[in-house]
Amino acid sequence: MRVAVVVLLFLTDGALCKKVCSYQDVVDYLNLTRDNSVHKLTRPVLDYTHPTTVELDILLYAILAVMWNNERILWDPAQFCGITKISVPHDMLWKPDLFIYEMIQKDDSPQNPYMIVSYDGTVISEEDMRVVSTCKMDVHKFPFDTQKCNISVGSAVHSVDELRIFPSSNSSRATQFSREVMKTQGEWEFLHLSVASYNFTYDSKQWEQLIYTFTMKRRPLLHVINFLLPILFFLCLDLASYFISDHRGEKLGFKVTVLLAISVLLLILNDILPSMSNKTPLIATYCIVIFALMLLSLLETILVTYLMEKDSQEKLKLGDDWEDKQEKVKIDNSNTEDKRQTGCSCICKVSDGEKQHELLPVAEEVDNIVQTGESHVLLLILEELKDLQKTANLHLSCREEARRSSHWATRINRAFFIFYVVVVSTFLSLIFMEWNS
Ligand SMILES: *[C@@H]1O[C@H](CO)[C@@H](O)[C@H](O)[C@H]1NC(C)=O
Ligand SMILES: *[C@@H]1O[C@H](CO)[C@@H](O)[C@H](O)[C@H]1NC(C)=O
Repeated sequence: MRVAVVVLLFLTDGALCKKVCSYQDVVDYLNLTRDNSVHKLTRPVLDYTHPTTVELDILLYAILAVMWNNERILWDPAQFCGITKISVPHDMLWKPDLFIYEMIQKDDSPQNPYMIVSYDGTVISEEDMRVVSTCKMDVHKFPFDTQKCNISVGSAVHSVDELRIFPSSNSSRATQFSREVMKTQGEWEFLHLSVASYNFTYDSKQWEQLIYTFTMKRRPLLHVINFLLPILFFLCLDLASYFISDHRGEKLGFKVTVLLAISVLLLILNDILPSMSNKTPLIATYCIVIFALMLLSLLETILVTYLMEKDSQEKLKLGDDWEDKQEKVKIDNSNTEDKRQTGCSCICKVSDGEKQHELLPVAEEVDNIVQTGESHVLLLILEELKDLQKTANLHLSCREEARRSSHWATRINRAFFIFYVVVVSTFLSLIFMEWNS
């Protein structure tokens, strides 16, 4: 009966005798079952002194490709129709206990459920991992910084005589692979990936580690546009405010506004600057120095404004004095001599004395020629004129004085402006050189 069926099969298959194999045959041959603990419990070596060789590859975005040898697995492909590889669930076989030292978060990316097993005992396991790792950052040159992060891979329980770890691709190949795998690069530009082997001794045993070092460079454009340039613009505005007049505190208001704008930008810096750093970031120096310079310029404006205010108060006092005098001249034109030098006397004494004699020859002349009763009126008028001339002279010379003092303010302003420009340009060139180095 059985023979008949076979014959029937031959007939339908078209007379060609072909052996049919399945993966299951291989699995059966290897005794790979879930109950069979032989494949899972111990390191798969027939002689315990054999080290297991593990080769691994890490690509950026952490694709961990691990390859090792399982001495318990061996079949002859010729016996199984040339089957050289089977895939088995990854919990069916022993796996090297590789872990990443810097990993701080459990990996929750989807697991690849299968491993590839070859006839010669090579097992390949590929895992996509999302590695959240710690990395010491040096933000001294932020945002023009380059960071290096390590990913160290090693075994937790197997020392170097039990488990050897090798990189399956060298640094340049790993770099090239990572470049190809990488699709988006985001804020960081990937530069380089290098591999180094490292032994460390612990508990009188040697443990092998592979250290992958990622080098990446920050793309600074966003921070330059968002932060560095605006501060520079505000600095330019502050410089330009030199050309605003000092009067009525306009300049003061302008400078305070610019300073406030900078403070708002400093709040942004708080958000973007990574806080872990033991060396002062250049960007902080940049901000603080520019802030301090602008503060200095504000103080200078306050000083100048104060001086001019004081000055104009004196002018005002003088003006009042002058008006007072005019009124007094109107009310009591004979009795003006005694009330005079009050407000501006100290400043204007010299000019007062100098200019007084202009009308004197005329007065003497009149005195000499006319000695009659009419002359009394004339003399009164003359007296009044003299008085007016004096106060006018007083006023003029005081204005002169005021102009001189505002000239003085201009000189302070100019000196400070030159100092400011020199300091700013020196500082900026120094800091950009440091950033560039
Ligand atoms: C599988 O098990 C059978 C019997 O249980 C044994 O004869 C055979 O050698 C085993 N095969 C391997 C590869 O260990
Ligand atoms: C680590 O130790 C192994 C075994 O002793 C040795 O073959 C290997 O060269 C060592 N690696 C380094 C980087 O020292």
